This record gives sequence, structure tokens and C-alpha cells, in this order.
Amino acid sequence: MKKSFGPRTLVYPVPVWAVGTYDKEGRPDVAAVAWGGVCCSIPPCVTISLRKATLTYANIMERKAFSINVPSAGLFKEVDYFGLVSGREQDKLCRAGLKAVRCRIADAPYIDEFPLVLECRLLQALEIGLHTAFIGEILDVLADEDVIGEQGFPEMNKIKPVLYSPELHDYYETGALLGKAFQSGKDILQK
Ligand SMILES: Cc1cc2nc3c(=O)[nH]c(=O)nc-3n(C[C@H](O)[C@H](O)[C@H](O)COP(=O)(O)O)c2cc1C
Repeated sequence: MKKSFGPRTLVYPVPVWAVGTYDKEGRPDVAAVAWGGVCCSIPPCVTISLRKATLTYANIMERKAFSINVPSAGLFKEVDYFGLVSGREQDKLCRAGLKAVRCRIADAPYIDEFPLVLECRLLQALEIGLHTAFIGEILDVLADEDVIGEQGFPEMNKIKPVLYSPELHDYYETGALLGKAFQSGKDILQK
């Protein structure tokens, strides 16, 4: 018998990303965002959801662009800090000792120390309730050489991204490889 928890944002796994934006004056800001995920393959798109009160919300409305910076496990404290204070109060990247670099295509900064970066341009903003969902078209994916595997792609076990546990407010790192997608289920398909 399952226990009911009612309507809540209680689901696993949830990523936590650092979203980079420029303000009107071109100052870089970064915020922790857990309400995000892939939402389309062609064109490649992601959504992130933000409250209107955040500087990141205002910056995306202004610049129509943002970067998604995927943290490795060793950067979880920096990401948490990005979620504790607004860029209206502190220069977060400066305080965290991290370097903002201008994206090659999108009008947004990325964080040099983060191993995987998506450059995005705003496609649509969808008012949902407390949060507004921003759909960003992925214009480019940037990855550090040391997280690129033998198949020429950035690999999860090299990046070691941070997972977030909503409601409990815990951070986790990823575990072992289980198997291949679109293959592992064939054992059952062919039974
Ligand atoms: C783990 C974590 C996840 C968060 N996820 C979101 C989110 O998905 N959307 C949001 O609006 N705020 C989220 N926040 C809060 C923002 O990061 C926070 O309000 C931040 O101060 C906004 O910064 P800014 O004003 O510089 O944009 C999260 C915070 C933490 C610690």
C-alpha cells in the first residue's frame, strides 16, 4: 500500500544547475536552479523555471539568453551559495572565486570552472504560477576536455553532476552505470 504525499514537487532525479545571465549593464550573475530539464530534441531545448523576484528572471527577460552550467560534485557548495543570495546583493561569481566568460553565441556568461555548459537563447516564457518556465533553445554545448570520453562525448561519470532532492533539500552525486538505453529492455522484449 502506497502512502500519499499530496500535490508536491517531490520527484527524483532532479538536477541542480547554475544559470548564468547578464544584467542590463552587462554584469554577470548566476543562480541555482533545480526546476529544469530537457523539453525538446529538435530544436534541442531545455526549460528552467524561475520566480519573478530573482535577478535571473529580469536578466533573461532583458537579454533573452542564459547559460546552463552543470556542476561537478566538488562545486556543490558554490551552487548552494548561488541559491542563497541574489546578484542584487552580492557579486556571486567574484565572491565564490569563479570566472565568468562570455558565451560564444548566446548573450550570457558561462562559468569557466564548470565542466559542461549549454548556451541558450530564449524561445518562450510560460507563466505557470509562482514560477515562469523559460524555454531555451540550446545553441551550443561546451565541455572541458577532461570530461570527454572515448566516444567523443562528455560523460556523466567524468562530470559527476550534482543531483538535488526536493523537500529534503539534500545534494547527491551520481552512482554506477547500470546499462545501455534502448538495449537493456530487449531481454524482456524478446522473452
Ligand atoms: C538547490 C536550489 C535550487 C533552486 N532552484 C530554484 C529554481 O528552480 N527556481 C528559482 O526561481 N529559484 C531557485 N532557487 C533559488 C534561487 O537560486 C535564489 O532565489 C537566488 O538568490 C536567485 O539569484 P538571483 O536573484 O541572482 O537570480 C534554488 C535555490 C537552491 C539552493
